[in-house]
Amino acid sequence: MTIPTFDINCLNAFAQKMVQEKKTAVGFPCNQNVKLADFYHWYAVSGLADLAMNNVGDPRRPSLYSLNTHEFENQVIDFFSPLYGFAQEEAWGFVTSSGTDGNNHGIYFGVNFLSSQSDIKPVLYVSEEAHYSIMRISDLQGLEMRQIPTSIKGEMEVQAFEQALDTTRPALIVIAVGTTFKGGIDNQDAIDEVLTRKPPVAVYRHVDAALFGGFLPFTEYAHLLDHSACNYDSIAVSGHKFFGFDEPLGLFITTNEVLAKQNPFQVSYLNDSVPTISCSRSALAPLKFWWQIHTTGVEGYRRQAELILKNAVYLKERLDEISYPAWKNDISNIVYFQRPSDWVMKKWSLAPTEDKRLGGKLAHDIVMRHEGMHTIDHFIDDLLLMIDQNSGQ
Ligand SMILES: Cc1ncc(COP(=O)(O)O)c(C=O)c1O
Repeated sequence: MTIPTFDINCLNAFAQKMVQEKKTAVGFPCNQNVKLADFYHWYAVSGLADLAMNNVGDPRRPSLYSLNTHEFENQVIDFFSPLYGFAQEEAWGFVTSSGTDGNNHGIYFGVNFLSSQSDIKPVLYVSEEAHYSIMRISDLQGLEMRQIPTSIKGEMEVQAFEQALDTTRPALIVIAVGTTFKGGIDNQDAIDEVLTRKPPVAVYRHVDAALFGGFLPFTEYAHLLDHSACNYDSIAVSGHKFFGFDEPLGLFITTNEVLAKQNPFQVSYLNDSVPTISCSRSALAPLKFWWQIHTTGVEGYRRQAELILKNAVYLKERLDEISYPAWKNDISNIVYFQRPSDWVMKKWSLAPTEDKRLGGKLAHDIVMRHEGMHTIDHFIDDLLLMIDQNSGQ
């Protein structure tokens, strides 16, 4: 096998292409306004780029592997726990490798928690418009899953949930706070009302807030993710979405009560303290998060949240102005619309889906920080050009 020669020009050309493409990447929930150059500079000169740290184990317990960033990881969790309505002393969490990793833990922890209350296998309930990772994880963990139909806005139909609910078995409910395509928010109060009226054997609620979990705590809608009011047991949030990290990472937060029901599997060389599914975990990710928290602060996050919601409204207004079929849920930075021609889809990295209730083929634009009004105007210009071209055919 021949190994290609190391060619810095080839690497530079690749980097330039990526930098160019980020400007029109609006169809996926990655915030391209990444600000980590100072962090990487510090990381290199500090000497940390020349050693191997690893956050294996429970960040709250002493680790036998001393080269870790557990203290920073704990501070990240301590910063976010109250923002999601967890009391500091009841919260346990860690920096995950992605939103999917957080969902995997939510479901796995949920199954263990429920099995401490009943020998009967739980049923996993989730809406049809929830992220596919839930289906994948359910399959992986060998669970019975019931998919609940959704409203036209992508929110779980609570009546259908009630009909599907088997009260003779424990219920593991995955609640979507911001579905992937339309940004639908499941109604936790209404779900709760059903569970109170028709209590199953035991209940565990995991919230998948991969994208919305980043910005909602910094808005007037923070109550939608308030653990103390909503009563959910765990939450997963992605770090590379709203927060704008350069690689997949995320947050998983639950309670010490839930943690206590997990099996650490007694690994003596790791101090019997590995509640996480994966053994090795990134030490760099918590350090980046810590850096960002300190350089952005609550006020900074608040401004960023306000900006994306405001720009999403602007995008919807501009689409209305040109009479382009488009929809946006009230509390959302996602605008979904009739699917444009292939060249527009490709140029703007748009993601496709279908919904017969909205006329069939759709695409969406997830307004993140790198998509300002100027970029939105440019996108609208392309749609107008496309309409012009199509009318001439
Ligand atoms: C609602 C929702 N949940 C989970 C995920 C998966 O998150 P990640 O890509 O961080 O694994 C996504 C990704 O888009 C999502 O939209």
